[in-house]
Amino acid sequence: MALYSEKVMDHFRNPRNVGAIEDADGVGEVGNARCGDIMKIYLKIDDDVVSDVKFETFGCGSAIASSSMATEMIKGRPLKEALRLTNQAVAEALDGLPAHKLHCSVLAEEAVKAAVKDYYERNGIAYDQDTFTEDPIL
Ligand code: FES
Repeated sequence: MALYSEKVMDHFRNPRNVGAIEDADGVGEVGNARCGDIMKIYLKIDDDVVSDVKFETFGCGSAIASSSMATEMIKGRPLKEALRLTNQAVAEALDGLPAHKLHCSVLAEEAVKAAVKDYYERNGIAYDQDTFTEDPIL
């Protein structure tokens, strides 16, 4: 069996939503100290809905595929749903990731959450800290 699913390869070769949003409403940047990969997510928010999202990822193929899939999963969705995005959901949507690559999908979940948190902080919106407690890195 191939190490990577066709979906992973597709999102790696043709990543969706690549780039930056200059006038983003929220930006989240996270990294994994062990592998050194970095992921940055930009959000445009309109009426509590993610109206646009882009990413810049300096990292492995799984990180790029995870970023691409995560942006597709939250685009056009209410902020509250974006916040519920889990790394498991991203990995499942990619038809799985090898165990030693699961942390790449964790980066996507964390980057989305960091961008939403940035949006809340920029706008003085109260939020539940527990939503943003750091997940242990796999
Ligand atoms: Fe670290 Fe993929 S190897 S994000």
